Amino acid sequence: MASPLPTPVPAQLALGAALRAEFPILDQKVNGLPLVYLDNAATSQKPRAVLDALSRCYTEYNANVHRGVHALSAKATNEYEEARAKVAAFIGASTSREVVIVRNATEGINLVSNTWGAANIKQGDEIILSVAEHHANLVPWQLLAARTGAVLRHVRLTPDKSQLDMDHFRSLLSPRTRLVSLVHVSNVLGCVLDTAYVAEQARRVGAKLLLDCCQSVPHMPVDVCSLGADWIVASSHKFCGPSGVGFLWGRYDVLESMEPWMGGGEMIADVFLDQSTYAPPPMRFEAGTPAIAEAIGMGAAAEWLQQLGMDRVHAFEEEIGTYLYERLVAVSPRVTVYGPRPGAPRGRASLAAFNVEGLHATDVSTLLDMAGVAVRSGHHCAQPLHRELGVPASARASAYIYNTAAEIDTFIEALKDTIKFFDDAHGGVA
Ligand SMILES: Cc1ncc(COP(=O)(O)O)c(C=O)c1O
Repeated sequence: MASPLPTPVPAQLALGAALRAEFPILDQKVNGLPLVYLDNAATSQKPRAVLDALSRCYTEYNANVHRGVHALSAKATNEYEEARAKVAAFIGASTSREVVIVRNATEGINLVSNTWGAANIKQGDEIILSVAEHHANLVPWQLLAARTGAVLRHVRLTPDKSQLDMDHFRSLLSPRTRLVSLVHVSNVLGCVLDTAYVAEQARRVGAKLLLDCCQSVPHMPVDVCSLGADWIVASSHKFCGPSGVGFLWGRYDVLESMEPWMGGGEMIADVFLDQSTYAPPPMRFEAGTPAIAEAIGMGAAAEWLQQLGMDRVHAFEEEIGTYLYERLVAVSPRVTVYGPRPGAPRGRASLAAFNVEGLHATDVSTLLDMAGVAVRSGHHCAQPLHRELGVPASARASAYIYNTAAEIDTFIEALKDTIKFFDDAHGGVA
């Protein structure tokens, strides 16, 4: 029997409705019904401020950056560097020279593994990851370990499988640990890492710390000066910006110690026929013409979110995330939602990966799509985590700043209809 709805709907939830006009894409029908976009952990929609920044770039000052002396090139260069400064301000970096503009978080992690990792990781060194990592924070380290003979260790889940087991993390640390690379907020469990503890423990054994902030930077205040990490990565497309661009933030002294990865234009100081010298960071890591308009769009997104206020975004998401979770678990005892409960000490993100006993996640999301509701299904690029959870896949509803309680209600009703549809088709409850 489904439990009663949490009432009244918290006042904070008004923010979602207030912001919708800024996101023109949301005002459309899918399969004849109003779109309910709940696939924000995969990618977010873009506000007018970002769409306008992209359009202005191409209609007013498109030119290559860092090269020309003509007016358009100077303007494009200024805007590109201004975007870097906006990202730096958004994450509290002390200087924009710590922000490397990359294609996405995945490229940022590969950059670190191919530069710092290649120079510092030797046979027998240990790298601590977790079973909950996105493939982007697993495969680059597997490639490095295969090349160097380094050993990968994985933090396991707590016995209730809701988050990373910090006692196990501590037990994995040793003088052989050279690097800890963990997800700040899990894209499946929604659990939030205790970064202060992780940073303190990593420092204790002299290990470097990389944080995958793909699911934290869009949703909560992230301040690199207090995080205690050596690097963080995030993708613009998840925080209201364009795709094809993201950033790697690194402590300047760490970036300075890193050799280049890709070679070519932009990243050099002097080039001779048989050797070259390199630009200081961040340019050292930005070979070739960058994604200029996209980077400018990323800067606009960072500025837009900062003006909105990340504390406000986080407060809103805690409420809509709690509402989503509570409505979902109330649908049926056959619904399993992964990750910690909303009241858990470190909270949980505004996403819910779930399964309905007897139904396949892909069937669930296909039927939801017919009702105009966009959720993701699959392993969400976290296959090892799904093995730990004992399921091949899950469906995932993930909210962002423009979602409303009414949309969560629509999703829940569509899910109930979906379950009924399959139960009827199977000739009774599965
Ligand atoms: C936690 C996490 N890490 C890394 C990534 C990879 O992001 P991208 O594909 O933009 O590089 C994602 C994207 O889903 C993610 O959720």
